Amino acid sequence: MMEWGMVNRMSKLILEDQHCFYLAMDHGYLMGATHGLDNVGESFQPVEEFVDALFVARGSLRAAINPKTKVPIILRVSGGSSIFGDDLSNEEQSVSIEDIIRLNVQAVGFSVYFKSSYEHQTLIGLSRLVNECMTYSIPVMAVTAVGREMEEKKQDVRFLRNACRMCAETGAVVVKTYYHRDFDQIVSGCPVPVVIAGGPKTENDLEVLEFVYDGMQKGAAGVNLGRNIWQNTNPRGMAAALKAVIHEKATPKEAYDLTLAVEMDHLAVG
Ligand code: 5RP
Repeated sequence: MMEWGMVNRMSKLILEDQHCFYLAMDHGYLMGATHGLDNVGESFQPVEEFVDALFVARGSLRAAINPKTKVPIILRVSGGSSIFGDDLSNEEQSVSIEDIIRLNVQAVGFSVYFKSSYEHQTLIGLSRLVNECMTYSIPVMAVTAVGREMEEKKQDVRFLRNACRMCAETGAVVVKTYYHRDFDQIVSGCPVPVVIAGGPKTENDLEVLEFVYDGMQKGAAGVNLGRNIWQNTNPRGMAAALKAVIHEKATPKEAYDLTLAVEMDHLAVG
């Protein structure tokens, strides 16, 4: 039986329909002042009403997010490498348990770099973080990070399936991984909810709604998506559409029509 505090926190991360919509705005911790996230607070405000949780690093959280927000926070707690360096995978826990508690977050997120020089370091880092967080009933979301070998790893369903399972066995209670057309193979091997990560902004909104819809049909719990929302010229429309796919069983076409309706609404009000 899960401890009361863990059940309470999890109930705000995975909603009653067993689905979830996380907005990722943590990119600055390794990418710096990412286009579309110059000011996390300004990018968050228009889409806040649509999302179930915000994934963010502590700098932007403290500087730019209203501490009275009703949106649960998932705090990015791994770091140590950047786009300036040679190897993105050399990460460790970058936030102390004291600061995690001080920030009163709903959960924390930590990257594991399988099939990299830092596999052991990041996997044992996840174990230690889970050990610390279990003491305080704080859920840990593992991120199956791919570093610069992105395309190769994202297309390998055996890699994604095994990486997710290993994160869950290590103690993560939610795992984030990349969409694959055989997403059911990933979910079937993983005893905890799996959420779909996004990736670079695509040219076509319908394409995003289609892969999220397909992933949901194949057992994904939801998404942890960033650039395809806040780099979109219509972030509110995209957030509303994703919410409809995740929580309201909308088809990609129905959700796409919603993006246009929300945009029209916005233009009319503006
Ligand atoms: C970046 C991350 C992001 O949370 C994740 O990649 C999702 O964002 P996007 O949809 O923009 O890829 O872990 O470090």
